[in-house]
Amino acid sequence: MGRPWRAVEERVAVAEGPRGTPRHVACVMDGNGRWAAQRSLPRTAGHEAAEAAVIDTIEAAHGAGVEWLTLYAFSTENWGRPGGEVEFLMRLARRTVRRRALFLHARGIRCRFLGTGDPRIPPALARDMADLTELTRRNRRMTLTIALDHGGRRDIVEAARSLIRGGVPADQVTEHSFAGHLPHPDTPDVDLVIRTSGEQRISNFMLWQVAYAEWIFPGALWPDFRAADFRECLDTYRRRDRRFGGVRAPAASGKGPR
Ligand code: IPE
Ligand code: IPE
Ligand code: MG
Repeated sequence: MGRPWRAVEERVAVAEGPRGTPRHVACVMDGNGRWAAQRSLPRTAGHEAAEAAVIDTIEAAHGAGVEWLTLYAFSTENWGRPGGEVEFLMRLARRTVRRRALFLHARGIRCRFLGTGDPRIPPALARDMADLTELTRRNRRMTLTIALDHGGRRDIVEAARSLIRGGVPADQVTEHSFAGHLPHPDTPDVDLVIRTSGEQRISNFMLWQVAYAEWIFPGALWPDFRAADFRECLDTYRRRDRRFGGVRAPAASGKGPR
């Protein structure tokens, strides 16, 4: 028999950059409303204050050599929020995309969006999203994916539809071929998910891609999350033992596992 731990080590090697840095980090940016409530401010003030955390996180990920960063900005379920809050979030997204385009481009960051293309996305925002994608298309230092109007289940259903439309025979549907029908199929699996505000749930986020992700739940509300918090999460990740359901080689014992 070969070395049964080999598959685990190969998967870990694929998932990690220099010094055990996760290749793909995703953030569920949660807690804006509570941040505002603590200050007796309207929820929109919390969203407004979130931009600083977004920029800090991008800088920290970029500085640490993270290759893929995904930020969950708006879920398919978030359309159910009060109309004024949704409108505000869309306006804020547009302002951020416009205001930060050159900041992102100058750092060699390729930007793209993950979403269902819902017609409720204001056309001006959709245009600015397309412009940012185009402007940064050739950048290679880091890929920043902004999940805006994203739903993990929706993506899986769409992939199934796409396979059926393509007439793919059932016995040719594999995990690999299925993943090829998800949006942005070049995106590697998520290695680390950070969800702020202490909430510990997935909330329909990248359900396929987080299958073997490590999760960290800092207590900080998203508007208070800073570069140092992000780096602390990377340190915690480095101390985790990822096994992918397998076993690791015994440390320098020279003996194989039984
Ligand atoms: C995250 O903060 C932002 C979005 C979901 C758009 P919340 O708005 O969910 O803040 P809480 O969870 O109510 O504190
Ligand atoms: C998840 O947060 C979505 C985003 C951060 C964009 P929510 O605040 O919408 O999720 P729940 O309602 O707590 O599950
Ligand atoms: Mg929330």
